[in-house]
Amino acid sequence: MTMKPSHIRKAIFPIGGTGTRFLPLTLAMPKEMIPVVDTPLLHFCVLEAIEAGCEECIFVISDEYNQRNIIENYFSNNGVLERRLRAAGKSEQAEKWRAKLPTPDTLHFVEQKHPLGLGNAIWLSREIIGDESFAVLLPDELLFAKPGCLSSLVSAYRKQKNGFLVAMQQVEQEECHRYGILNVGDEKVADEPVELYGVIEKPAPGSAPSNFAIIGRYILPADVFKLLQPSEKVEEGKEDTPLTDALEVLIKSSVSSRAMLFNGERYDCGSKEGFLAAILARSKGAL
Ligand code: G1P
Repeated sequence: MTMKPSHIRKAIFPIGGTGTRFLPLTLAMPKEMIPVVDTPLLHFCVLEAIEAGCEECIFVISDEYNQRNIIENYFSNNGVLERRLRAAGKSEQAEKWRAKLPTPDTLHFVEQKHPLGLGNAIWLSREIIGDESFAVLLPDELLFAKPGCLSSLVSAYRKQKNGFLVAMQQVEQEECHRYGILNVGDEKVADEPVELYGVIEKPAPGSAPSNFAIIGRYILPADVFKLLQPSEKVEEGKEDTPLTDALEVLIKSSVSSRAMLFNGERYDCGSKEGFLAAILARSKGAL
């Protein structure tokens, strides 16, 4: 198979977080499987990656509640309901949406034994990724656009060829402390990606360099793994090398570091308000 230059074949879904904001539900199931009416969050995100041309999905899981089984069952076509539908001659009901989902042989599971954060989740996937650029999607950011957010990033990255590219959106000033905030300097932000001058993770009120937030979609070069090596000792309750620190190093080196405005609908399902907005949108058929 010939690979297009900068074709992004692999996508990482870091889903090993503790999900404390959705307790008590997350005692029994990962928050990425919480349904937006009828469809789990993870389903939307995986479809976005497939639409963008990704062929392999890497789920970084904690496996505290048999996450692997839950996800494998979801993506396998041997579920009880599907078998019943088939037996009743109604298999088209199941096939209709199954056809778009990845097949079980394209799924990988990596266990993140300790909650050491996003950077560590990415680092743990290094052997499956190898030396190609790859995508990272955070499923609690539900993004809706046609084409999807990752598809637009992949198209832009084809021209950029190397370095990293992230999606961004403007958030309210008082929300900046919840995100990685980008310094876009004096660049005019429109449809094309802009050069980055810095990034700060969850800045304290009043210290954000802009209100452009990273919204959970990244195309990263394999070089980032060198910057995400685990530290000898991590303070109790802290995450290991944050991804944002590694991005800051790339920005300060000669690596091409860009961000692209996302123009579609965004539902930050890491918050209950965002989740509720997504549920309303879904119930009205907008998602
Ligand atoms: C993560 C990233 C942050 C990004 C955010 C998007 O934070 O660390 O840079 O802006 O996702 O939702 P988290 O929400 O996992 O704390």
